[in-house]
Amino acid sequence: MRRYLVAGNWKMNTTRATGEELAGALAANASAEEAGVEVLVCPPFPYVSAISEKVSGSAVQVGAQDVYFEAGGAFTGEVSVDMLKDVGCQYVLIGHSERRHVMGECDETINKKVKAAIAGGLKVVLCVGELLSEREASQTEAVLDRQMEGGLADISESDANHLVIAYEPVWAIGTGVVATTEQAESAHDHLRKWVAKHYTAAFADQIRILYGGSVKADNAEALLGQPNVDGALVGGASLKADAFIPIIDAAR
Ligand code: G3P
Repeated sequence: MRRYLVAGNWKMNTTRATGEELAGALAANASAEEAGVEVLVCPPFPYVSAISEKVSGSAVQVGAQDVYFEAGGAFTGEVSVDMLKDVGCQYVLIGHSERRHVMGECDETINKKVKAAIAGGLKVVLCVGELLSEREASQTEAVLDRQMEGGLADISESDANHLVIAYEPVWAIGTGVVATTEQAESAHDHLRKWVAKHYTAAFADQIRILYGGSVKADNAEALLGQPNVDGALVGGASLKADAFIPIIDAAR
């Protein structure tokens, strides 16, 4: 039985004050813990520490939106795994489509980050997903295979135990165009089969695969009702408690 994970990716949004207010409201919403839903928020780096303090003692966990693979040194602007752990992160998002397509991150870099994060004791949400042009060219599965193979190169099953996959079709991110339940289920099923082929069927059965891309309260229940959808990675609708909490509730 896979436990739902509902994660909010705040991206480059919120102020310290609005972030703290949002985190406080989520921490007070203890229903998620009772219902066995795992809740995660991923604030911008400068607020991670304050948000960690705000949710401390609650069921809400904190993640970062990215990490660098080196342990320390002359890497201006970067943040290490240990730094993230030091400020209360349990999770880190790696390979988000905006990192891939805006910042030009490649699978090789993503793979180094996944390895470093897991080795350092963080849980990883590895994001994969195709562009609209790739979907229209019937390349969705090939793109997912390439991103999985690249991102998870030389990662053992015991390390992959610390991994969650997030399927985020790029055309659905921030567009209001959500994947249909069939499109989401088909991609998730493909990803699970990839895991079964490259690891084991038993492990594929356990790994969680989240859907991300215009998830809102009114489509969350249908998406989360798909057999291979184990949670949601939410952008815009995670920025207000009254929009995010109903998505958590849909996972109950
Ligand atoms: O990581 C979450 C994300 O990219 C989806 O964003 O705004 O479409 O929910 P949004």
